[in-house]
Amino acid sequence: MKSVCVADFREAARRRLPKVLFDYIDGGSYAETTLAANVADFAAIQLRQRVMRDVSDLKLSTEVFGRSLSMPVILAPIGLAGMNARRGEAQAARAAQAAGVPFTLSTVAVCPIEEVTAAATAPWYQLYMIKDRGFMIELLARAEAAGCPALMFTVDLPVAGTRYRDARNGMIVSGLGDSLRQGLDGLAHPQWLVDVMLRGGPHILGNIAAASPELRTLSQFWKWVGGNFDAAVTWDDIAWVREHWDGPIIIKGVLDAEDAREARRRGADGVVVSNHGGRQLDGAASSISALPAVADAVGQDLTVLFDGGVRSGLDVLKALALGAKACLIGRAWVYALGADGQRGVATVLDVMRRELAVAMALTGCVDVRTADRSLLVEG
Ligand code: FNR
Repeated sequence: MKSVCVADFREAARRRLPKVLFDYIDGGSYAETTLAANVADFAAIQLRQRVMRDVSDLKLSTEVFGRSLSMPVILAPIGLAGMNARRGEAQAARAAQAAGVPFTLSTVAVCPIEEVTAAATAPWYQLYMIKDRGFMIELLARAEAAGCPALMFTVDLPVAGTRYRDARNGMIVSGLGDSLRQGLDGLAHPQWLVDVMLRGGPHILGNIAAASPELRTLSQFWKWVGGNFDAAVTWDDIAWVREHWDGPIIIKGVLDAEDAREARRRGADGVVVSNHGGRQLDGAASSISALPAVADAVGQDLTVLFDGGVRSGLDVLKALALGAKACLIGRAWVYALGADGQRGVATVLDVMRRELAVAMALTGCVDVRTADRSLLVEG
């Protein structure tokens, strides 16, 4: 069956990928309440249908940090994306480039920054705070040398929220039972097995492989991540990041207006309103319900980006109406990557563009840059 929307790509990914990988993408933390609210709260927002306006010439393009985006969509950083399709981050970066939107590379990607830059224009770079600051300086220098135009500093993961699905599936292999189960899971998905396991190596976290020669398997990497992310990170560390990064710094994972104001005080250039796709603090507010207060607090001074629960171009317009400059999409692109590689990501971006255009036309919004709350039926 042809995939024509994000839900179709999700289903195609579910069929093609081993369960351990699909659940890693699809799942959230604890009871997945916030994950569900991210999506449900979008559904509850009503767009105002307007008629008889000339909508024959729609402008979807916008500018973020001085760069032109063909539409207000950015590919969010996704760890381990390269396990879902052969050299997956490079494929997604090519699709993003062709669509004229930025791709953000995760610290914990399979493809290293140098491989992605060889495949497409330099991505935005996502950083986690790692205890070894010397290693962080190296990471930042590599991103700068690669020409990354912006740094996304993720601050909502000082500790990892427990994801029950991952724990049940033995995401971090802890014994023979896990290895055996995952081996059988892989064998039951032969297309993925050939594409990724046989032809898609090396299966390492390319950006952090240099941290230690001990890091050879994904399990070793996950353990390293658990032991090396810095739970002591504070707002004071922004100044340290600034010392080592000249370009725009975007703080990802802000859900509270007071934190947004603090980000502004500390000299950030932008924030991403985000709860990590419902993968961290279960019971936190949905992203879309948190957006208006953050946009009201800092939208005049900072670039307010948004993610969490965006599954269509209609959702993109709703987030713009509530104050976002552009939306990051996470699961939407990685489902498509798992389902059909670069072609899947290209299709999902095309689908979002068309959905956004139709939503604009039927709300009478001819230019994404003018989207505001007047596009919504306010309850
Ligand atoms: C993520 N996210 C994430 N964020 C980040 O800053 N660094 C990372 O490495 C990852 N890894 C990651 C893996 C997977 C499988 C998912 C689903 C998410 C969070 C991501 O960037 C984004 O905030 C959410 O995905 C947005 O929510 P939606 O669009 O998935 O609903």
